[in-house]
Amino acid sequence: MNRNVATIPQDLIAALKKAKHVVVFTGAGVSAESGIPTFRDSLTGLWERFNAEDLATPGAFRKDKELVWGWYEWRRMKVLQAQPNPAHIAIAALATLVPKLTIVTQNVDDLHERAGSTDVLHLHGSLHSPRCATCGQAHILPPGIPVEPEGGRRLSPPVCICGGLVRPGVVWFGEDLPVRELRQAFEAAQKCDVLFAIGTSGLVQPAARIPSLAKQAGACVVQVNPTSTGLDRECTWSVRGAAGEIMPNLLQAAFGRTA
Ligand code: OAD
Repeated sequence: MNRNVATIPQDLIAALKKAKHVVVFTGAGVSAESGIPTFRDSLTGLWERFNAEDLATPGAFRKDKELVWGWYEWRRMKVLQAQPNPAHIAIAALATLVPKLTIVTQNVDDLHERAGSTDVLHLHGSLHSPRCATCGQAHILPPGIPVEPEGGRRLSPPVCICGGLVRPGVVWFGEDLPVRELRQAFEAAQKCDVLFAIGTSGLVQPAARIPSLAKQAGACVVQVNPTSTGLDRECTWSVRGAAGEIMPNLLQAAFGRTA
């Protein structure tokens, strides 16, 4: 069964109402309505405007630390200036309406947490948790919002007490995902009744396996996205639209609740 729908179908609502464990798996699209750019949307996507090889690999940091650090500080500034949108808020409210909710995100922002969600599994790290590239010690960033021009400026990364340089706390291409978070995300996908894939193109492995793991284990998979993606074939329902509209509508339809 794979139905593309613009409105929320009754059998999806029924499945959500009786679900004991729901997984919400998010990508950049869930933060798009907060003004945070996605990666692959045409014109606005980060990888449409910047070269991932120059910015998001260990080799890029070795080659040009100031370029990479400045670019991530620009992204951190964008997030600090942003607010959670109705999708983040509805997802946080959903946790109070179902017996168990696991949030798994590929996003490096903290908008789920600022909407009130707890125990979010961040598969790709966080812009807000830089660490020493040499000894791994966490680095506390100064409070306040850095002011960076569009795309960032060259900035020297801070120096750790061990003398090593501090790097962004994100997972770069070619690096392993955090073991605990990935294991817990896979386990949740295999145990849940309903999995939402919200605002992700489903192109980056191993995170992109999560919807298919849920489907293979017998869960209903619901995609919330304005466009078609590679995940379409894994989905029981694809609800076409912006997450900030669909998720509050879904809460209202299933639980009579406004987030
Ligand atoms: P992508 O940019 O690949 O996909 C974003 C998805 O969000 C697209 O399918 C859009 O159609 C959808 N979208 C846009 N606006 C939306 C909205 N308002 N509501 C719902 N959906 C919307 O981003 P990700 O799938 O998150 O990894 O990318 C996965 C990974 O690729 C990222 O975590 C990052 C990137 O390279 C690393 O940096 C390791």
